[in-house]
Amino acid sequence: MRLPSTVRLYEVGPRDGLQNEKIILPAELKIDFINRLSGTGLTHIEATSFVSPKWVPQMGDAAAVMAGITRAPGVSYPVLVPNEKGMDAAIQAGAQEIAVFAAASESFSQKNINCSIAESLERFKPVMATAKAHKIKVRGYVSCVVGCPYEGAIAPAAVSDVAAKLRAMGCYEISLGDTIGVGTPGKVKTMLDTVMRHVPAPELALHCHDTYGQALVNIYAGLEMGIAVFDSSIAGLGGCPYAKGATGNVATEDVLYMLNGLGIQTGVDLDKIVEAAWFISDKLGRKPVSKVANALKHENFV
Ligand code: HMG
Ligand code: MG
Repeated sequence: MRLPSTVRLYEVGPRDGLQNEKIILPAELKIDFINRLSGTGLTHIEATSFVSPKWVPQMGDAAAVMAGITRAPGVSYPVLVPNEKGMDAAIQAGAQEIAVFAAASESFSQKNINCSIAESLERFKPVMATAKAHKIKVRGYVSCVVGCPYEGAIAPAAVSDVAAKLRAMGCYEISLGDTIGVGTPGKVKTMLDTVMRHVPAPELALHCHDTYGQALVNIYAGLEMGIAVFDSSIAGLGGCPYAKGATGNVATEDVLYMLNGLGIQTGVDLDKIVEAAWFISDKLGRKPVSKVANALKHENFV
């Protein structure tokens, strides 16, 4: 089985990672963090969310973060947008790429964005039209692609249905989220097999939370299926506020170490990633959860 020779890592630490932090962090810290990530070779750094600050207070400084970062050439700084209000704010902030987010589970959709799956797709229509008019790239997320914290197992057909609709609306890439990290390689492959009948592998990404320690093997299963874009969160930061008990995404440094070992090119510098992982963990007053960041800890990094 041939694995992809190059992989794109899509960093979600500043958004998916930090959104779950209870203590509101200063915008200056987030800006410093994102600027450090910009020098690691990453080409996609999801910077923040233009969502309701009543729902996710940590992302309430989205405009300040976008205004403060130094945008490195060749690096995209996508932001999450749930509706037209968020889209207007994202445009004001100069976002050039956004991500809309839907779910394969009705209950999760209600808890996360207060509407049904069908309603969420309706809400995205004007967002997509505005994005097109402003030449803004749009990525689409599907949450709960294997399991839901409220409904349990999710049928692969429910995932492919939403993924195909997001693609038809104009999303250039669909990120399939194992929001609560319950997937195992066989289930992930079955899900991908179904989705790939509607969305080709080059337009798919995998977004694995590591709650049950399955993220790396699930990513390997994705590689075997021809997936070449993986979302990850530096230092393994994060979780979803509407998925109780879910831990962070797979750590960027863990994925990178595995890809380096497989000889798969990413253009991302592992030492710089580990350094940034220790930087943010130090600011949060804890160690990175990733094995690689701990194994490679160097006295100069802290
Ligand atoms: P709602 O309460 O139904 O919205 O929330 P509403 O239209 O009734 O508005 C309520 C209030 O929010 C109003 O303010 C609006 O102006 C304001 P008020 O009049 O009460 O003062 N509002 C906004 N403010 C700022 N920006 C906006 C915005 N929209 C409305 N865009 C809504 C609906 C979608 C807004 C809400 O449910 C929400 O913000 N949800 C976001 C939840 C979220 O961010 N979840 C985490 C990200 S998803 C994730 O982590 C999963 C992922 O990683 C993939 C995976 O792991 O599976 C992507
Ligand atoms: Mg997530």
